[in-house]
Amino acid sequence: MNQTEKRILFTAEDIARQVERLASQICADYQGKEIVLVGVLKGAFIFLADLVRRLTISVELDFIRVASYGAGTESTGEIRITTDVELDLQGRDVLIVEDIVDSGLTTAFLREHLAGKNPRSLRICTLLDKTERRRVTIPLDYVGVQLDKGFVVGYGLDCDEAHRHLPEIYELIL
Ligand code: IMP
Repeated sequence: MNQTEKRILFTAEDIARQVERLASQICADYQGKEIVLVGVLKGAFIFLADLVRRLTISVELDFIRVASYGAGTESTGEIRITTDVELDLQGRDVLIVEDIVDSGLTTAFLREHLAGKNPRSLRICTLLDKTERRRVTIPLDYVGVQLDKGFVVGYGLDCDEAHRHLPEIYELIL
């Protein structure tokens, strides 16, 4: 898969602009509050790292890890938590930070799982909102960019674990 052709969709500058915009929105909405950002591993690790450094409000961080896609580009529909959050989310303002929402199944599952921990509020931030294969309606509170379709890599996103390290976002030519 490493040798698959790809074309650039978003440069590092494009991404930085979106991250800055999202950070400003989040700061405005949560002014005076302390939020817990829950990054969804592994894909959101770069986005979360950039986002958190642009927030001027009080923030705590945690991570959750799910196994969804195996080695392909289609969701199996089977989602399982492999590492849960460690912070107590009871009464906290929680923001889930996703790299991409595709079918929506992972995010819907995570939302229900985290809602069970009784946060005061629970919102979702995603860098990419890929709409064509959406299977469940899910409210996305903060969206970087919308994509219709395609399989994208870079800036944390992988295909069979390759390409995560790239500073840009590419579409794979499958
Ligand atoms: P969903 O459950 O179908 O919404 O898929 C969510 C997960 O699938 C994301 O967190 C990614 O890990 C992975 N995924 C979906 N689309 C892409 C893509 O275009 N590139 C890389 N990973 C993707």
